[in-house]
Amino acid sequence: MKLMDFTSLPIRKKSYGGANGNKISVVINDELYMLKLPSHAPKNPNLSYANSCVSEYLGSHIFNMLGVVAQETVLGIFNYNDRERISVACKDFEKNGYILKDFASVKNQIIDSNSNGYGTELLDILETIQKQQLVDQVELSNHFWNMFVIDALIGNWDRHNGNWGFLYNQETDDIKLAPIFDCGSCLFPQIDEDTIIKCLKDKTEMNARIYDFPTSAILLNGKRINYYKFIKSHEYEECDKAITRIKEKIDLDKINLLIDELDCISDNHKLFLKNIIKRRYEELLL
Ligand SMILES: Nc1ncnc2c1ncn2[C@@H]1O[C@H](COP(=O)(O)OP(=O)(O)OP(=O)(O)O)[C@@H](O)[C@H]1O
Ligand SMILES: [Mg+2]
Repeated sequence: MKLMDFTSLPIRKKSYGGANGNKISVVINDELYMLKLPSHAPKNPNLSYANSCVSEYLGSHIFNMLGVVAQETVLGIFNYNDRERISVACKDFEKNGYILKDFASVKNQIIDSNSNGYGTELLDILETIQKQQLVDQVELSNHFWNMFVIDALIGNWDRHNGNWGFLYNQETDDIKLAPIFDCGSCLFPQIDEDTIIKCLKDKTEMNARIYDFPTSAILLNGKRINYYKFIKSHEYEECDKAITRIKEKIDLDKINLLIDELDCISDNHKLFLKNIIKRRYEELLL
């Protein structure tokens, strides 16, 4: 897959928030995109920049493959200060009068809730889903659990309440689910080549990345959820149902092809990603 060159694209004035990396707005084929530049890798001094853009691209594509609508993404390079960086263009979904309202802001509407919008305690999230009257409760509950299960598959550790939500139209007062966005923290964006090789050789290293981490941004009794233990506990019927829904859509060959087509990561990195997804699929979802 040939990388697109984003360097000379027309730039727009729209700005974007978020704590992980710089972002600008650009125009590709008359459409607005958020161009996400790679974030720093504070947890890994061996990497100058994380592979968060590759994670964003793969994560968004995997969601779309599994029938959960996600933002459209294109991978490319952006040249700044004589350095080429792998970047990802995310098609802007705020259009036709619709603006993003994250789940945190909807949680703030639940007046008798005693946790704030950004609180990610699971039971508070589920309570908000039951009490909100913006969209159908069953549709929202299914959406939440589908997202949780796919995040478990791709090892997303940052699905906080600001990283999913709704599209709201102030003129018509219409509201609907927003496409999935911000998958930049899935699939180990801060792993370096040495650690990749270690994981490919050493079962313990690989197993830790299946059974122990990453954990979810969602909390149970104040502690980040361990995806493996949580799923195996079968304590949440809606989670089990989502696994059944998602599992039958997973086609590992298709996901492997998506990874193999990437030009911007090493063969070992590809092997690592393919192994991680296969193992997480088998251990967590099967
Ligand atoms: N495809 C999109 N279209 C329109 N707006 C978007 C899109 N993707 C993200 N945004 C907006 O831009 C913000 C920043 O994007 P994103 O969440 O991807 O960045 P981040 O730096 O990784 O965030 P975080 O702080 O959660 O790590 C989002 O919170 C959202 O408001
Ligand atoms: Mg974000």
